[in-house]
Amino acid sequence: MSQALQAIRGMNDILPDSAELWEEFEATVRDWLRAYGYKPIRMPLVEPTQLFSRAIGEVTDIVEKEMYSFTDSLNGEQLTLRPEGTASCVRAVIEHNLLYDGPRRLWYMGPMFRHERPQKGRYRQFHQVGVEALGFPGPDVDAEQILMCARLWNDLGFNGGGNDSVRLEINSLGSAEERAAHRAELIAYLEQHQDALDGDARRRLHSNPLRILDSKNPAMQAIVEAAPKLLDFLGDASLKHFDGVQAVLKDAGLPYVINTRLVRGLDYYNLTVFEFITDRLGAQGTVCAGGRYDGLIAQLGGKPAPGCGFAMGIERLLSLWQDLDNHREQSAPDIYLVNQGERAQRYAFQVAEHLRDTGFAVHLHCGGGSFKSQMKKADASGAPLALIVGDDEAAANAVTLKPLRAAQEQQRIPFDQLAESVGDFLFATEEQDGSL
Ligand code: HAM
Repeated sequence: MSQALQAIRGMNDILPDSAELWEEFEATVRDWLRAYGYKPIRMPLVEPTQLFSRAIGEVTDIVEKEMYSFTDSLNGEQLTLRPEGTASCVRAVIEHNLLYDGPRRLWYMGPMFRHERPQKGRYRQFHQVGVEALGFPGPDVDAEQILMCARLWNDLGFNGGGNDSVRLEINSLGSAEERAAHRAELIAYLEQHQDALDGDARRRLHSNPLRILDSKNPAMQAIVEAAPKLLDFLGDASLKHFDGVQAVLKDAGLPYVINTRLVRGLDYYNLTVFEFITDRLGAQGTVCAGGRYDGLIAQLGGKPAPGCGFAMGIERLLSLWQDLDNHREQSAPDIYLVNQGERAQRYAFQVAEHLRDTGFAVHLHCGGGSFKSQMKKADASGAPLALIVGDDEAAANAVTLKPLRAAQEQQRIPFDQLAESVGDFLFATEEQDGSL
């Protein structure tokens, strides 16, 4: 026997029971996005490598060491499995001139790929819901995006009973000039403390010093804590934008903290950045993150226009959500259709299609077996009703209806009354269950 193959490390199958939870989550997310006027967009999973190095930044963890990049052996193109969606979305917006008649609110959902060290909450193929508002310059849209996240947490049942399970951190990264002024001082400061910097920080000192502020290394916390803060370098316009965001959050009564060390791991951000974090998932607690990227569209060759967006990690949100008991029931068919005998089986196909035409979910037993073993499967399926078709029923053009959960007698129903009888039965069952 040849050895069974396994999925790639960090890339997970989503098995049927959890896939139903994913579908429920996706349905909630679609309703929520519609409520804010966002329209769906779907981009390819593979893009030119250059798109990501230009958009995300050469000196970032993602571009330096996490991208699945390869040469297409058929034509020599340099390609990358998308590590995030913003770059692709902006590329699509430019390519199809989507901003020609004004701003756009767009969203996407799907797998992203980063070659990180897998652990709980961190995978190599993971899934995001991404939201991008393009062409809106003011702080109103930043604030709306933050409020909309808070609404989703409520819709999902997080933050129930006054227990704030997801908290909000915000910061402002100012403008390119303000970052340049801060950067010069930050480098000068860090150079004075060269000896205390770890390898990563030394490497980034002259390429991406802002990211050093994000260091999790305990030995560097004191230095990072006392470093010059970007927020102190913001001019009037940036401060006004930041105040504008905060005013809306305050009006809405949404608690937040300003984290001056929040810098994000992608280089395209300016002004507002934000993250929603939970302590319940250990080290990988950021469930949603984003901010403003006013320079990105121009940087990727489009007509200059501002942008603001965020993405949330679906796996992380689902691991919070699955612990709550506010989910819909796992889906079961309405009917399990038991059949035995060659003639009966052919008749059973007609019965099943007829009932599906009427709108019922029918699990047609395939694969034969005794009535007894089929009835066991019917019970296990969760269906409230079994229909039994043997050669007798086929000859009489009828079906035997057998309630599975209620202690009721089985009865034989003529084919032409079947849909109505099944409908009446299911309606009565649902009423009894209190699901109506
Ligand atoms: P990001 O912070 O790289 O931002 O990722 C957003 C979220 O995706 C994270 O907060 C986390 O929940 C989830 N995530 C990231 N990496 C992994 C992983 N390896 N395993 C599981 N979940 C993960 C972006 O991707 C930006 N494109 C967000 C954005 C949109 N900014 C503006 N628009």
